[in-house]
Amino acid sequence: MNIVTVGHVDHGKSTVIGRLMADTHALPEGKLEAIRDQCRRNAKPFEYAFLLDALKNEQAQGITIDTARCFFKSEKRRYIIIDAPGHIEFLKNMVTGASRAEAALLVIDASRGVEENTRRHGYFLSMLGIRQVAVLVNKMDLVDYREQVFRDICQEYEQFLSKIDIVPDAFIPVSGMEGDNIANHSPNMPWYEGRNVLEQMDTFVSAPLPGDQPLRMPVQGVYKFTGGGDSRRIIAGTVDAGKLRAGDDIVFYPSGKKTRVKSLEVFNAPTPQLFSAGQAAGFTMTEQIFVKRGEVVCRADEQAPNVGVRIKANLFWLGKQRFDASREYFFKCGTTHVKMKLEKVERIVNAATLSSLLRQYVEKNEVAECVISLERPIAFDLAGQNESTSRFVIVDNYEIAGGGIITQAMQAYDYDVRNIRWTAGRMTPSERAKYTGRRGLVVWMTGLSGAGKTTIAQEVERILVEQGIGAYILDGDELRRGLNSDLGFSPEDRKANIRRVMHVAKLFRNAGLVTLVSLISPYAQSRQEARENIGSDSFIEVYVKASVETCRRRDPKKLYEKAQAGKISSFTGLDDSYEEPVHPDIVLDTELWSEEECVESLLGAIEAKLKEM
Ligand code: ADX
Repeated sequence: MNIVTVGHVDHGKSTVIGRLMADTHALPEGKLEAIRDQCRRNAKPFEYAFLLDALKNEQAQGITIDTARCFFKSEKRRYIIIDAPGHIEFLKNMVTGASRAEAALLVIDASRGVEENTRRHGYFLSMLGIRQVAVLVNKMDLVDYREQVFRDICQEYEQFLSKIDIVPDAFIPVSGMEGDNIANHSPNMPWYEGRNVLEQMDTFVSAPLPGDQPLRMPVQGVYKFTGGGDSRRIIAGTVDAGKLRAGDDIVFYPSGKKTRVKSLEVFNAPTPQLFSAGQAAGFTMTEQIFVKRGEVVCRADEQAPNVGVRIKANLFWLGKQRFDASREYFFKCGTTHVKMKLEKVERIVNAATLSSLLRQYVEKNEVAECVISLERPIAFDLAGQNESTSRFVIVDNYEIAGGGIITQAMQAYDYDVRNIRWTAGRMTPSERAKYTGRRGLVVWMTGLSGAGKTTIAQEVERILVEQGIGAYILDGDELRRGLNSDLGFSPEDRKANIRRVMHVAKLFRNAGLVTLVSLISPYAQSRQEARENIGSDSFIEVYVKASVETCRRRDPKKLYEKAQAGKISSFTGLDDSYEEPVHPDIVLDTELWSEEECVESLLGAIEAKLKEM
């Protein structure tokens, strides 16, 4: 059984594993003593973690291994413990299939408690579908083996895990350093009557290899026989799922090329009857078709994988640089390696706090639901169908910066549309939204001169655009200098002003922008007209509220002063009417609220509306 250990670096994973190995007598003869000796000579206190490091170095000599793997036996069965030293390694291993973990030991330091990383690890396990989890509350010796410390951690973490659909099989109080409850029942914690770590591991249910699933064999390489005029090619790779026999009719995806398996081939070993999940495999074909690394071998009579250039995925981002639509990345799934772009972020979840955000880029340590477009078609499965062909990593500048699971196959854009556009007519807002990721919205901000419309609009515009959400302000003053320079402030002119701005706002909305209209728009009738014309489903009326007295006091443009002095006539709020909105969608009272509060509140309303659309 494969078990992955996860936990914050300093929470003592290695010590727990080292102890497990020592207590199950899995260590090479004399190893433990040798390390103890070495520690004594260097006047260092012995730690089980050193043991693990020493073993790692030894193992690493022959082959390169991404993660430390430790092997040991209980009375029941054999275990492979995969230690993932960090997020990146964990991710890489899970996604590249190097480790098919069936269960996880999650280590928490009792003296530190649940930390951000602890929550993140839980989230990763959940996302990768590892449902068998034992939580080891380690370093109990540092908290005097107190039951309350253990209980508090259990409660806090259990609550978090339940939100992400993980019900841990057990919480075990342990000390890797002292060997409590690892392979014994510690006399130091008589209050704990549950299983020790080893016993808990023995209760995990072993997942069958996916041998009965449809065949998936990503092509790793194509080799030619050399010499003797032999022109056969061997297709080599690992069977990730299903079975492969000579005589099988197979299809390579994404190319769709068909052929039949002529013979199974292995290097320096007798030819097997079949290859099944988990095995490195090679075969020759009846026709010499040309295929490349990255194709997936499938059986013609079994369910085909998806083939496409657009996918929806859940991913976690670990890159230092944010993940956004402005750059190209590489997408690796199975043996495929293809250029990709982030098309759209649908949702961002902070894996530690589980709060969700609305913006178009993903920061380090965030989990996101995204749409990704690929440069060319690949073959893939969906999460839950097949692990190796549904998990992927994203490479940014030669480094793995993210990874996740494919949750949905998205319709490819119909590139032929380009050629037949003249029959398709003008692109509709919803068609456009498919490409730009978002439909537009008109945010109609009404209120007296000096109430704060422009100030709030400018801040909201900035925040939206910085999040990658197209937004633009249509400001009354500004438009009156151009488009509406022929208009004054008579009721007719104001109506005309509002009507024109309404029309422009509608066009901006159609273009997919969050259009912030900053206009006194004093007449209820005109605003109602705007709402009807633009359509309620993409219109928010915002009343930016402040009394005439307040506005007069603020008087940023010294217009109230001028009006008072009789230099301007029919000034709104003084000698011209302002009809307060009766049922605005939102009121921003700038007398009662700070600028930040108003901005925050408006952003909330916009976010809610965008989600609705
Ligand atoms: S509306 O009434 O037609 O909606 P709009 O928002 O475009 O007004 O323009 C208002 C701006 O014009 C004010 O912010 C102010 O700077 C300027 N202005 C000049 N004269 C007046 C006036 N008589 N009433 C209101 N605003 C005026």
